[in-house]
This record gives sequence, C-alpha cells and structure tokens, in this order.
Amino acid sequence: MHTRHVVSARDLGLGFCRELFKRADEYRTRLDRDPTSCITDLSGRVALLWFRQPSTRTLVSFEMAAVRLGMSVVQVIDPQFSSEYKGESEDHSMRTVAGYRPDALIIRHNQEGGVARAAASAARAFGGPVPVINAGDGKGEHPTQALIDVYTLLQLWNNGTQQDLSGAHIAIGGDLQGRVPRSLAFLLADYGPEITFISAPELRVGEDVKEYLRTRDISFTEETEIDGTLQRAHFWYWTRTQNDQRTDKEKARLAHVDPRSMQLRLSHVRGMRKGAKILHPMPINRKPGDVSEIEPAIDDIDTAAYWQQSANGLYVRMAVLQTLCSP
Ligand code: CP
Repeated sequence: MHTRHVVSARDLGLGFCRELFKRADEYRTRLDRDPTSCITDLSGRVALLWFRQPSTRTLVSFEMAAVRLGMSVVQVIDPQFSSEYKGESEDHSMRTVAGYRPDALIIRHNQEGGVARAAASAARAFGGPVPVINAGDGKGEHPTQALIDVYTLLQLWNNGTQQDLSGAHIAIGGDLQGRVPRSLAFLLADYGPEITFISAPELRVGEDVKEYLRTRDISFTEETEIDGTLQRAHFWYWTRTQNDQRTDKEKARLAHVDPRSMQLRLSHVRGMRKGAKILHPMPINRKPGDVSEIEPAIDDIDTAAYWQQSANGLYVRMAVLQTLCSP
C-alpha cells in the first residue's frame, strides 16, 4: 500500500482506507496492551508540522501519533515567525523545508487549495518530493478528519461488523460549507450510506459535493429543520458555524441566521431513534454568550460519540503516518 500524499478525500479510495483502518485497529489494541509497543521501523524518522491556523486535535494527535511510532516532530505553528514575515514566498518556504527531508510534511493552511499548492512546491524540493498531508485547508478539505469520522462510524454501525455503511442513515448538519463536511461527504461516497443534509438555506452543502454524490449514486436529501429526520437517522454528524473561516462581508451576510435553529438539544435526543449517536469533529463552540451547536448536557450521555471519535484521531493518524512514512 503506498500513497505519496493525503490532500483530498476524493483521492483515497476504498482499498487504501480498509488497509489504513486495519492498521488503526492494530495500534488501538497495541496501545491498550503496552503503549511502548508501537515503536517500529519509523524510529529515527521526522514529521514536520506546519500550521497556519489554530488547532488542538489535529496538531496534538499527529504529534502524539508520531511520537508513539518512535518518530520525532518539528513544529512551525506560527509562520509569522518564519521568513515569510521577511517577504519570502510560500513556494520558497515549502521548497526549502521539504529539502530538509522530513518524512512527512503535515500542513494546516488558511486557504482552500493551499496544501495542494504546498505539495506542488515540496515536489520540487532539492532531493525529491516528500509526502504531504492536508491537516485542513481553509474551506477546502480535511481528509484525515474524514478518515477518523468514517472509522468511528464503522465502529458504531452494527457493532463494527460491517466493512461499509450500507443501511446506515447519517444526518449531517450545521454549517455545511466548511472543509469537514466536504471531506466527509466525499469519503462517505465509498461507503454507501443514505445522507440527509440539514442546515439553514444559507449554509447548504456545496454543489460540487452534491454532484460528486450523484455521480457515485449516493442517496441524499436536504432539509432546513431537524425534527423531520429525528426518527430516521442512525447518526447525527453535527458541525460548528465556521465564522473563523469567513470574511467580515460573509459574516454580515449570515448575521440573520439564528444559531438556535441548528442547536442539537436533549429534547432532540429524546426524539431520536433508539441507539442513535451524535458525532462532531470538534471543537464545539462553547464561547460564553454564544449558542452552542450542541447543548452542553449532551456531552456526558451515551448518545455523544464525539469523545470516542476524537480519541480515534490518534490511531487513525498513526496509521496514516505509518502508511506514508514507512521505508
Ligand atoms: N477537528 C479538528 O480539526 O480540530 P482542531 O481544529 O482542534 O484540530
């Protein structure tokens, strides 16, 4: 199994994901038994994390994953302190750092397409290309988050007995214009669930995503209210309003959208079908004064699967690094 880059969920493919999820399962078992037992042939290898936007899960789980595998990590988490501040182009920065031969270049970018551009720069590094991993690029994609999401859905669906999600109905709701629902929808196209997108009209999923699902014969509908789907969906994949990815003009255009219309509450959970689970890529917005997209009381009930989902980030990202960085 060999893929040089993980930039878009559209490029991963079912075979790649299946192998990767098997590896993630192995790491989960090994870490339970003996946390030191995952140091393999990656000892001595180096992951370079280049982050242009804030992160907790992606940054820390990639770093933990690398260290658990015996790799070392170099971080540039504020490019304001890189030579771009002095006027260097991003192309030169990427070409330069790729020339130092990291075994993986893991990039979070503030612009859609920024990681693909960085991969093109890194491909021209002195000494040859290095594997590039998209850790989220603006409104573009977040493919390793989608891998974690599908891995978690497979664990939860029919007690983990199926290799696909046929028969599962997934409600994907909230702000559907961000990178997370995009990558998730692209990856789900390989797994055959039924999807209901639920959002305010202004936050609908993009036409390119819908077109992709149509070409893959995935059944989906769009709703603007939560209630009609409560008894039907097995999974509720909820998302935060991503105003941090928007310009002031875009924010002003959305100012009238009432966040309470997309808040998942305990009263909704009571109306959900038995055994339904709520997933969320996190972070969940809990800023004082804001309406959270998930009522806090949901955090500690069985329906909340987002803690399991975020913990899976470690195993899945270990598997990603092992797959891309093995000699
Ligand atoms: N889900 C996710 O990407 O979270 P972070 O922004 O904390 O990495």
